[in-house]
Parts: sequence; structure tokens; C-alpha cells
Amino acid sequence: MLIGLNAPKHFVKNLSIHNNERTHLMNKPMPSLIGHRGLPDLAPENTKSSVVTAAKHGIRWVEIDVTMAGDGSLVIMHDPDLRLFGQAETRLVDIGKSELSSIDAGSWFDSNFTGEPLLFLPELLDLVIGHNLGLNLEIKINPDIDMSLQVKAVYQCLSDFHITAENLLISSFDMAALVELRKLDQNIQIGALAQKIPDQTPSELAFIAPVSIHCDQEHLTQEQAAQLKEQYPLYCYTVNSAEKFAQLLSWGVSGIFCDRAHAEDMIAVLTHSSN
Ligand code: G3P
Ligand code: MG
Repeated sequence: MLIGLNAPKHFVKNLSIHNNERTHLMNKPMPSLIGHRGLPDLAPENTKSSVVTAAKHGIRWVEIDVTMAGDGSLVIMHDPDLRLFGQAETRLVDIGKSELSSIDAGSWFDSNFTGEPLLFLPELLDLVIGHNLGLNLEIKINPDIDMSLQVKAVYQCLSDFHITAENLLISSFDMAALVELRKLDQNIQIGALAQKIPDQTPSELAFIAPVSIHCDQEHLTQEQAAQLKEQYPLYCYTVNSAEKFAQLLSWGVSGIFCDRAHAEDMIAVLTHSSN
């Protein structure tokens, strides 16, 4: 059984209880081409340069990872350690903002980005608001830190910024974290993220009431896409080939997370697609 196949009645009932305003169940909450970690084809992932470069290339939405360090700082990073910077043995739980602020987050990518600092969540939110970007914030729950603490901290930070509700969508692989988030906010847009579409509908899904489902394109079958698209807008990561993008759109997939969302061949797929 695919996600939602045995849940639509509960799902809709749940929506009517928890979110009377969210009537756009089948509307696409994000465009078809989303910058994965910004624009990491041209700038180091999840940095200011990556976000700004995406905006300069006309990308409308970016997907960005956030996680927590040992002092509670919300840092824009994919991993719970410093493996990206050649220090895999250093875990975020053991360091804080001062150590993170001294990291060179750019030279591993290209010497032109030497000295690029790591971003923290408030800076990211300033950036996306300033560039009028849509943001899919993916909460990477740090396994070394209490999950609920992380969700609450992210939500508190989001609450401090005036980001347009339609320009924000929160996702996570951690379903329990999404449940926590839904308890905190009945209206915030949530995307349920899974590597593989599970055979059984996750029991938490009706409560989470996601506006979209996100999954790894490598594991998605045409049959799954055909069934899912009837219930949820579906987004796939990480798609970097125009051929795959066109195929997924033809399957009814609503959009993709792409490392090269500025590329002409990717954009051309959209102009030839009716999706
Ligand atoms: O949110 C989509 C995608 O980014 C999830 O995988 O590992 O690239 O963060 P990952
Ligand atoms: Mg991500």
C-alpha cells in the first residue's frame, strides 16, 4: 500500500479539523525546478553564495538543510559532523557557534570561495526574504541531540521572521519531528520526506497533513508516481539530468530538487512540458 492510499478520508477529515484554510490539497506548493542546497553546481552547498547565486540565476525556490550544534545553534549544514570540511571525526554536538564560525565552508569546493562562512538559520531567513525566494527548509535532526528540542528551536526561529507562509515549506526524513512541528503549528506547510515510498502508509501521516511528498527519484516507480499524484504533489531528489526530469514530469511528478537548476537543458524541459 502506498502512502495515503488507505488514508485519504482520515487525511481530509484531519485537514478540516486542523487547518480549515488549507483547501489547496492538490495545488503545487513549490515550482517544478527547485535549487537543491541552493545552486551547488556553481557555489558551495548550503552557503550564502549558493543561495545568492541561485537567486541571481532566477531560481524561485531553494531547498536548504538545517541542523543543530552542541550549543543549540541552528547551522545550515547537511551532516551532524564536519565531514564536508575534512574533519569527519568532529561532531556538531561537541562544538558551538564560535567554532563553526571559524570554518572555511568554501575552499573544499573551489579556491574562489575560500573563507566562505557557514550560515546560521537567522541569516538564511534574512537572505531568502531579501531575495524573495521560496524556502524548503529540510530539518536534519542531529541524532546526538534531543529531537523535540531541535524542532522547537527551528520553529521559534522561524516565528521571529516575517516569512510569507506560502514561501515556506518544512520537510524532514524524521516523521516524529514532523509530528512535533504540526503540534506547534496547524497551518505551516509540511512536506513528508522519504527515501523510498513505503509499502504501508505511515501512521503519523494523517496528523502531519503534508502538502507534498518528497522522495528519492532512484527508488520511485512510474506506478507509485501514478498512484501518489492523485493524492499529493510529489517532488523528487536529486535530479540533475534533463532526460530524467522530463520522464518524472511525464509520470505526474510535480517537481524536482536539482543541483543545476539554472542549466538551460533543465529549464528547457519545463518549456516543453505541460505539467
Ligand atoms: O530534501 C530533499 C533532499 O535534499 C533530501 O536529501 O540528503 O540531499 O538532504 P539530502
Ligand atoms: Mg536536503
